[in-house]
Amino acid sequence: MTALSCNYTISMMKKWLLIGCLVTTGLLQNSWADPSPTRQTELRNLLKNDCGACHGLSLQGGMGPALLPEKLAGKSDELLVTTILEGRKGTAMPPWKPFMNRDEAAWLVQVLAMPKKPNLNYKSSHSSSNNN
Ligand code: HEC
Repeated sequence: MTALSCNYTISMMKKWLLIGCLVTTGLLQNSWADPSPTRQTELRNLLKNDCGACHGLSLQGGMGPALLPEKLAGKSDELLVTTILEGRKGTAMPPWKPFMNRDEAAWLVQVLAMPKKPNLNYKSSHSSSNNN
């Protein structure tokens, strides 16, 4: 009897721990998490070397279209993030899902949207500031 209720308590504790973990993970994923500085450097290198192969070294366009802020201005972040993650069927744009998560793709879209690309200390809160 005691052993049973003890087991029960432990399994309840495990359940709550698990729920706690899931909730925390969910919160982290919903907040706009910028990639770590190391990861930002990796993503920038990817942008230059891999994306640059098609979109041009300075992203002015090549086999793929230019990815300059003025070119992307009218397009929704959602569309661009999905394009990066899923690629575009029937075009040369490949899916990058195996190499980055949604937050990272969203971060790249923010980077692409910046007229001048400052160094690695970009904060996503800037994206809501007015752009004059
Ligand atoms: C093999 C060539 C190739 C590579 C590599 C590539 N792209 Fe593309 N990308 C394309 C092509 C072609 C299109 C245009 C698709 C279309 O016609 O809609 C495109 C479209 C896009 C668009 C949508 C542009 C728009 O105006 O709608 C974005 C954003 C984009 N690419 C980002 C990236 C990023 C970021 C990377 C690197 C992680 C990358 N691409 C790597 C070929 C490439």
